[in-house]
Amino acid sequence: MAISISTPTAYFSCFNSSNQSSLPSLPFKPLKFPPFWPWQKVKMGPLTVSPMGFGTWAWGNQLLWGYQESMDTDLQQTFNLAVENGINLFDTADSYGTGRLNGQSEKLLGKFIQEFPGQQMRNDIVIATKFAAYPWRLTPGLFVKACKASLERLQVEQIGIGQLHWSTANYAPPQELALWDGLVAMYEQGLVRAVGVSNYGPKQLIKIHDYLKARGVPLCSAQVQFSLLSMGEDQMEIKKVCDSLGIRLIAYSPLGLGMLTGKYTKSRLPLGPRAFLFRQILPGLEPLLNSLGEIAQRRGKTLSQVSKLWVENNIYAGLRNMNFFQRRPDSNALIKQDNLALFQMFFCQLSLAFSGRHSKATIVAINWCICKGAIPIPGIKTVKQAEENLGALGWRLSSDELLQLEYAASESPQKMIQNIFQTRSSIDQIMSNHR
Ligand SMILES: NC(=O)c1ccc[n+]([C@@H]2O[C@H](COP(=O)([O-])OP(=O)(O)OC[C@H]3O[C@@H](n4cnc5c(N)ncnc54)[C@H](OP(=O)(O)O)[C@@H]3O)[C@@H](O)[C@H]2O)c1
Repeated sequence: MAISISTPTAYFSCFNSSNQSSLPSLPFKPLKFPPFWPWQKVKMGPLTVSPMGFGTWAWGNQLLWGYQESMDTDLQQTFNLAVENGINLFDTADSYGTGRLNGQSEKLLGKFIQEFPGQQMRNDIVIATKFAAYPWRLTPGLFVKACKASLERLQVEQIGIGQLHWSTANYAPPQELALWDGLVAMYEQGLVRAVGVSNYGPKQLIKIHDYLKARGVPLCSAQVQFSLLSMGEDQMEIKKVCDSLGIRLIAYSPLGLGMLTGKYTKSRLPLGPRAFLFRQILPGLEPLLNSLGEIAQRRGKTLSQVSKLWVENNIYAGLRNMNFFQRRPDSNALIKQDNLALFQMFFCQLSLAFSGRHSKATIVAINWCICKGAIPIPGIKTVKQAEENLGALGWRLSSDELLQLEYAASESPQKMIQNIFQTRSSIDQIMSNHR
């Protein structure tokens, strides 16, 4: 298996506590490589975003995700960690948050952005929010009003990407035009930097793209459910349309609501309604989960070996040439032999960082989305989850590994339920109509 070691596969500040406790702490600040390099950022319309964003559906959702306000401190730390590591894309929606907590996800993001220490990074943050096509939002003006309410909750003057949450074409076609004109109005009034859609099928995606283009509004993104559990014809057709029209595909639920993390089993189900779905799907997922785990383990092991070799060949040899490990004749000066011990400690930490960050099924599942040309937005609830998911960046699965995963996924009898609002049509028919 070919592995490029020039990519920033290690992220030295996130040793987990079990690693730390088994090693003496370093007398110097651990090196910190970014999870990805600046040139790996992705252009999305007028915006430049990290190759992965984070989703915040869970932030405020008690029913499905078991949110409690006591989680807010942890969520803020999670947000800070993500931003400090270069993640600048955060997905939310005006409908996120259950009951009296409606809008909570946007409110929390607004608070966290305001309180984030670091002007430059704060200015770089791109919030992609979605406006629900509620049946009472019947005019463009009502969508503009919704956008202004989101701006208030987010405490910003302009939203990064204003997205339509779903299309009404299948059940309320007249409302659809109001949605589109609402987007145009938001863009023209400078309330959003770019516009996007969510849960649009290929046919409707082309229609809205053409409509917006005629009005001088570029469509920058299309968000759909896209993962190893959700890679059917629909997804592939939408990806083709996106590629041909210069639209970025944002992959939501890249972990299959948590099923692809490998932490759930038939006998260990999450609390709440997810358990019903997981009970249906998990029993058939064994081949896929095994493949994810196997690739993750192989990657972790190989990378830790590669890191060892790389350190030995590059750093150790270089330092030896510089007489770094020799005792100096001057007894008052630093005894350089100590450096060897320091070096060994550093090396140990480095190997653990490499292996720890690549031995999780979760990051393999997210990396699959990146390899398919999508921007995944895994949902995160804790610092640990954010740390782990950052490990999906800075490397790529090989073509053999992609095939292995896709074959295993095709073997699973049950797939995720597709969004009912999506419109369908044959891609060839659509593209030939479009030409
Ligand atoms: N446009 C739309 O209609 C739409 C629909 C759905 C989602 N979205 C967006 O997409 C985002 C992501 O999708 P999603 O939240 O539905 O599902 P997901 O990303 O497939 O799964 C997220 C869940 O997996 C678990 N998880 C994440 N990282 C983990 C890790 N490293 N280790 C263990 N568990 C981990 C967490 O839940 P537990 O710890 O509770 O298991 C987390 O909430 C959402 O937050 C939202 O912004 C959009």
